[in-house]
Amino acid sequence: MNTRILDIQSLDDAGRTAIAEAAAVLRRGGLVAFPTETVYGLGANALDPAAVEAIFAAKGRPADNPLIVHIADPTALTEIAREVPEEARALAVAFWPGPLTLVLPRHPRIPLVTTGGLDTVAVRMPDDPVALALIEAAGCPVAAPSANRSGRPSPTRAAHVAEDLDGRVDVILRAGDCRVGIESTVLDLTGPVPMVLRPGIVTPEEIAEVLGVPVELDPALCQTPGPGTPGPGTLESGTQVEEEATAPAPKAPGMKYAHYAPRAEMLILRGQEDAIRARMDEIRREREAMGQRVGTILFGAADYREAARDFFARLRELDGQEVDLILAGALDEGHSLGVAVMNRMLKSAGYHVIDL
Ligand code: TXA
Ligand code: MG
Repeated sequence: MNTRILDIQSLDDAGRTAIAEAAAVLRRGGLVAFPTETVYGLGANALDPAAVEAIFAAKGRPADNPLIVHIADPTALTEIAREVPEEARALAVAFWPGPLTLVLPRHPRIPLVTTGGLDTVAVRMPDDPVALALIEAAGCPVAAPSANRSGRPSPTRAAHVAEDLDGRVDVILRAGDCRVGIESTVLDLTGPVPMVLRPGIVTPEEIAEVLGVPVELDPALCQTPGPGTPGPGTLESGTQVEEEATAPAPKAPGMKYAHYAPRAEMLILRGQEDAIRARMDEIRREREAMGQRVGTILFGAADYREAARDFFARLRELDGQEVDLILAGALDEGHSLGVAVMNRMLKSAGYHVIDL
């Protein structure tokens, strides 16, 4: 397949023409990668089972991992979910457009292939003018996972999408870099209590404040998978992380898969910043003496948003430099934004952590 890259500098006439072209591709069942505020998405008409199947094929994604349906207007919720609870309406008012995904009962018009066979559906309205214009012009809800090959770091720049999907999608809409940098918070509203299935930049505290009730975190998120976890280098697309019999399965099917793996070996150092720096230098010297190349990822202690924005790009950058080892400094998991970034960092490193 010949992938067309269409540049969008702004939503002027040229930008609108590119969006109209991409929307036509979506309407005829094609695949379009597009920017959102979180990460680039790989879109198809959510109502067209064959188009949605093409997303799974292009990504190499397991069929039981459901997609998020993107809408351009909160009123479209009633066409995606068969019931829209008051909580969902309140959260949409508070956070949409924005990086919060709601899991609700599936409307019968949403094909099961879109929801990975589940009777629930994930939906969000992204906060990006290009994404919103594209969905509007397509005139249909757009199913879109992150626009990476399954198992690879999520793409926060158009160049990352091209790296993974050139030749596998019809169109890449090339706009600026994503400003959030990690994927949306996924909140399940179909259970007895609102539950975060994937942490993101919208925190449980912010959600609880709107709902006036406590919000839980999927217990599986707080647990390190068992010793069967494949290490970096052994990760294949869709490889399922084996868990100990006692570990609960995550409620978002995607959270059980190996994820975000750089090609290099990766190790997380957890402790005080000084201790992290010292140990990083020590390990670097050891490895360099062995002829290896070492890259580091270290964010300022309180720079959670910057860490979220740059983490995936940094992984891809270090892969591009063909380092053998990536050393990353842990963020504070006492902070909800730290939890969100650490969720990705731990998966990237195959849960290899040294506590200092
Ligand atoms: O920020 C984002 O959410 C990006 C942009 C493109 O919008 N999209 C994204 O999609 O990250 P994806 O497919 O990479 O991740 C979707 C996550 C997966 O962990 C999936 O298992 C979960 O949401 N999910 C989707 N539908 C679900 C459902 N009905 N029940 C539980 N989890 C669901
Ligand atoms: Mg993804």
